[in-house]
Amino acid sequence: MNKTSIRIPEEFQIQSLLHQTTYLVDGELKQWNGATAEIYSTISSTEKYKPTLLGTIPQLGGYEAMEALDSAVKAYDNGQGLWPTMKVEDRIACMEKFVEQMKAKRDEVVKLLMWEIGKNLPDSQKEFDRTIEYIYDTIEAYKDIDRDSARFQKHSGVHAHIRRGPLGVVLCLGPYNYPLNETFCLLIPALMMGNTTIFKPAKLGVLLISPLLEAFQNSFPKGVVNIVYGRGRVLATPIMESGKVDVLALIGNSKSANALQSQHPKGNRLRMVLGLEAKNPAIVLPDADLDLAVEECITGTLSFNGQRCTALKVLYVHESIVEEFNRRFAYKVDQLKFGNPWEDGAKLTPLPEVDKPSYIQELIDDATKKGAQILNKKGGEIIENFIFPAVLFPVTKDMRVFEEEQFGPVIPVVPFSDIEEPLNDMAESNYGQQVSLFGKNVNTLSPLIDTLVNLVCRVNLNSSCQRGPDVYPFTGRKDSAVGTLSVTDALRSFSIRTFVASKDNDYNNAILNELLDKKTSNFISTDYIL
Ligand code: G3H
Repeated sequence: MNKTSIRIPEEFQIQSLLHQTTYLVDGELKQWNGATAEIYSTISSTEKYKPTLLGTIPQLGGYEAMEALDSAVKAYDNGQGLWPTMKVEDRIACMEKFVEQMKAKRDEVVKLLMWEIGKNLPDSQKEFDRTIEYIYDTIEAYKDIDRDSARFQKHSGVHAHIRRGPLGVVLCLGPYNYPLNETFCLLIPALMMGNTTIFKPAKLGVLLISPLLEAFQNSFPKGVVNIVYGRGRVLATPIMESGKVDVLALIGNSKSANALQSQHPKGNRLRMVLGLEAKNPAIVLPDADLDLAVEECITGTLSFNGQRCTALKVLYVHESIVEEFNRRFAYKVDQLKFGNPWEDGAKLTPLPEVDKPSYIQELIDDATKKGAQILNKKGGEIIENFIFPAVLFPVTKDMRVFEEEQFGPVIPVVPFSDIEEPLNDMAESNYGQQVSLFGKNVNTLSPLIDTLVNLVCRVNLNSSCQRGPDVYPFTGRKDSAVGTLSVTDALRSFSIRTFVASKDNDYNNAILNELLDKKTSNFISTDYIL
């Protein structure tokens, strides 16, 4: 494997450490003088390998967690707060103010994305730009929802003015692989709908939130966005145990989600919006265009080193073509360039989790011990911060790599002779997010599509799995998700339909007309927002 170059372009060099010494509570960037945690990148900037120190973050405790919770509860004020009762257009104005300031921080955030999680430059830029686009799309989708509600209905002699209202206090926890995008895909719609929030940055990709703190502080009323730093267990546990959280919004691991859910004393009150694990398979049929299938499976399994919930994590290839598929696929994997995120053409980059290379090594050792071979020459080559992706074949059900969500660079290939084999495996799996189906004959594809749509929530025809475009529903069955995220669905997930009803009589109608004329209510309004 080629070594990463320690030549770092000037604009990406770490010139000074970033010491985050404040946290955002009750509209104030509070100074923290207590314990801190050092943030290291697994990327080395010296010839002899050495993780790079990037800065420090506060290690807040239970007291500060409750402070943030109280601030969010106060800002919501049982639905009487400024934010949940604010006019739609005013809430939009706050969001626009935020996104304008955020755009100015692109370079800083992109640089930190590369250092903190090892995402390559084009993908880091894409993560940022996609998030900005998501915010604008959310604003437009919110206007649409509002326009649809800007009217009265009448059924059985009852007028109804139905809108979507906020749910309350939202605890937002995002994942390290998309510490900006996926976290904001929860936070932004939650805010847009009038909820107040407590947000704890992901375990990796924390410092990249620092450039945005002031924008959060000056764009939203105090207490609407609270940002805390520290260990999930220390901060999230007391917050959940208080019973004051109305929505748990989490993208990450089902174990954490289950633990947090069980800490809430009033389970029925807690709404959950969760994006969890997946083990998306590719199924390559005998008549598939092999070059296309190989190309898509490379992207599907290895973009961002396989650290995506939507990554292809197991490849089922029909036995009649598996030899040729393996030959072409293994060759292509070895052609991928490993390098630091800013290096031209680096498709594979350092793994941000210190113990990930040894974990992947364990999966490879287990599989080879049980009869699989490593098909590519570089497969399994290991250095301090990376392990080159190994293509493992033939993988069987007793191997750990078949069962576990590897979330990293290792690719199990399973041969099949009867299509029922992958279908049964998918039915037995704990996960049900997406599948990639490669083939051409519609007579074969049709019954498969009809079954697969009931096993997962997105069937990708002749292409890898992915979340985008973000306007499409992103969800999963079984342990893969709770709720649906997309630009519009997320707004629905973070809100509830609530309405004003009045019997159709002169007395009530006169009141409604006066409410509409005088525009005294922020809720009752038939104004059309352009
Ligand atoms: O980690 C899971 C992400 O939602 C995947 O998004 O398919 O755009 O990489 P993506």
